[in-house]
Amino acid sequence: MSPLFHKNRSPIGIFDSGYGGLTIFKEIIKQLPQYDYIYMGDNARAPYGTRSFDTVYKYTLQCVKWFFDNGCPLVILACNTASAKALRNIQQLDLKHITSPDHRVLGVIRPTSEIIGKYTSTQHVGLLATSGTVASESYLIEIKKFWPEIQLFQQACPMWVPLIENNEYNTAGARYFFKKDLDALFLQSTKIDTILLGCTHYPVLNDILKELIPDSVKLISQDTIIAESLVDYLKRHQNLDEKISKSGSVRFFTTGNDTDFNTHAPLFFGQGVKSEHIDLG
Ligand code: DGL
Repeated sequence: MSPLFHKNRSPIGIFDSGYGGLTIFKEIIKQLPQYDYIYMGDNARAPYGTRSFDTVYKYTLQCVKWFFDNGCPLVILACNTASAKALRNIQQLDLKHITSPDHRVLGVIRPTSEIIGKYTSTQHVGLLATSGTVASESYLIEIKKFWPEIQLFQQACPMWVPLIENNEYNTAGARYFFKKDLDALFLQSTKIDTILLGCTHYPVLNDILKELIPDSVKLISQDTIIAESLVDYLKRHQNLDEKISKSGSVRFFTTGNDTDFNTHAPLFFGQGVKSEHIDLG
C-alpha cells in the first residue's frame, strides 16, 4: 500500500468506531493546533459497543495498522469501547510486530480514570457507557488503581449510540431510553454526585441529560481531559513529539460513505469537514 502522505508528514492519528472521537479531536486541535492530524472513523462497521471482544480487537488492530502504514508515530483510540477491548492486547502483543519500537497507541480510559476522583465528594461515581465498555470492567479496574475509595456504579446504554448515529436523539422516543438508563443508574446508588460519560458519542447529549439529572450532579465528558493529558504526554515524551510533523494540517477518513460522514460530523466536531472514503480491504 502506498502511504497517503508525503514522506515528511507524520501526523497524529485519531481513531473512533465512527463519529464519537470527533468530540475529543475538537478539543485536541484547540489545545494543540500546530500538529498534523488524520482522523479515521470505522463507520462501515460501527457501532462497536455491542460487538464481541474478539471482533472489536480485530477491527481496531486493522485500523491501527492503517494509521501506522500512513506514517503516524502516535495513534489515539478516541473510543472507550476500543480502548477497553483492544488497547491492552495491541500494546502488549501487536505493537512490536506492526511498527517501530518508538511508536505509540494511547487510549482514553486511563487518563479519564486518573482524574475522575477530583470531581466527586461522595465518592459515588456513575459511569454511562456502551455494553462493551461496561462488560470489560476497565473503568472499575483503572479507577481502583488511582482512587481506591471510589465506588463506581456502571450502567450500559446500548441504545444511545444508534440513536445518536441515526440522528434520532432529540425525540421523545430517545428520551425514554435516556431516562430509563439514568433511572437504572441512580437505583444503584442515590449518593452519586458525578456521572462520567464514558463514551465519546455522549457529549452530544449533554444538554438533554442535564435536564434529566439533579442540578447537584456533575456530568463529566472526556474531551478536555483527554486533550490536556495529551499535552502533558507530549511534553514528557520529547523523542516522540519530535517525530510528529507540525504544519497544522487535518484530514478526515471514513470506511463508510464520505457524504454521510460530512453530513453528520458537524454535530460532533462543531464545524464542517470534508472526508475521504477508504477501503481497509
Ligand atoms: N464512541 C465509542 C466509545 O467511546 C462507542 C461507539 C460504538 O459503539 O461504536 O465507546
